[in-house]
Amino acid sequence: MNYFKIALLEGDGIGPEIMREAVKVLRLVEERNDVIFELTDAPFGAGAYFTCGHPFPEETQAICDEADAILKGPIGLSHEESQKIPVDMQPERAALLPMRRRYNTFANFRPVSLPRGLAHFSPLKPEIIGDGIDLIIVRELVGGLYFGEKEVGVNEQGLRYVKESLEYDEEQIRRILHEAFKLAMRRKKVLHNIHKSNVLKSSVLWNEVLEEVAADYSDVEVRHILVDAAATLLCLDPGQFDVMVMENMFGDILSDQGGGILGSLGLMPSACKGPEKSYYEPSHGSAPDIAGQSIANPYSMIGSVAMMLEDSFAMTMESKNVWSAMQSVFADGYSTPDLSKPGGSVTMIKTAEFGDRVIESLRSMPTG
Ligand code: IPM
Ligand code: MG
Repeated sequence: MNYFKIALLEGDGIGPEIMREAVKVLRLVEERNDVIFELTDAPFGAGAYFTCGHPFPEETQAICDEADAILKGPIGLSHEESQKIPVDMQPERAALLPMRRRYNTFANFRPVSLPRGLAHFSPLKPEIIGDGIDLIIVRELVGGLYFGEKEVGVNEQGLRYVKESLEYDEEQIRRILHEAFKLAMRRKKVLHNIHKSNVLKSSVLWNEVLEEVAADYSDVEVRHILVDAAATLLCLDPGQFDVMVMENMFGDILSDQGGGILGSLGLMPSACKGPEKSYYEPSHGSAPDIAGQSIANPYSMIGSVAMMLEDSFAMTMESKNVWSAMQSVFADGYSTPDLSKPGGSVTMIKTAEFGDRVIESLRSMPTG
């Protein structure tokens, strides 16, 4: 019997609604397998700031430190509501980035995946989608501009200025590239290296390190693409991509574009891997505009559970089952109002019913 501790950080906005469905799935996985999950809820995000005075309270840090893995919901408030929180206490800056730093979760995996049967979700034309979209963005998550030194002030001409630095050392670059090459080895053995070496020195170093690392993976074909060109190609011909690797900010932007070509960021779960601990989260925000209405699709949260099962608990088969269960609900013609418009052949259901249908489908699958 395996025993794993999971910290549950439901977050803000639609977080609690979609987390509830993810917990149902975890409980069923427990029932179906030789495993026990000890689930501990902990406050995190804007709500935690209002109730505990900090968006990443010490008690939450302690629970996360103890956990084998962390399942995190989306955080943040609407722009107006955010203004009620001092800038340095806003959850993106004071909870999410510190969590990434605390657990050194340098490798972020964001699958951009849409099986053919769900092609109608995508805004891309059927002839572009072909057999569906199935690529994965590997984003460096604890370096670069988001973590560099920041300076704000008034310069000698009396003008307000800002300076933010983008720093990487070769080791930070090497470790994320190893992750990307290893993934490429397990998939189609093609790695797209996304960079901007025609302008940025950081990309020049990145590419130098890539040449060194590539020597260990001679079976993998590397294709180099400038980040701006990659943005276009993601729309025009996503089928050419399989594993794409890039630094932090490029990955932030292109992964949202990934959500765009799928038709919704709601279809984007992710895994954030550190040397000792990983955490799992939807790639999207807390969608305050639809919070509390039970119309948010829990796909990204349940997909994050699927990624957790595979990456943290080596439950590969059950992870695949969870993915298939979710896809079967769409394939059966059900969807939620955040993803689909009423009418046509889609039967509109609510968040909890989507979760229930995933459960029903998973229950019918063989284990082992
Ligand atoms: C993401 C988010 C975060 C990021 C924000 C909320 C700080 O956009 O996970 O992509 O920029 O990394
Ligand atoms: Mg983002």
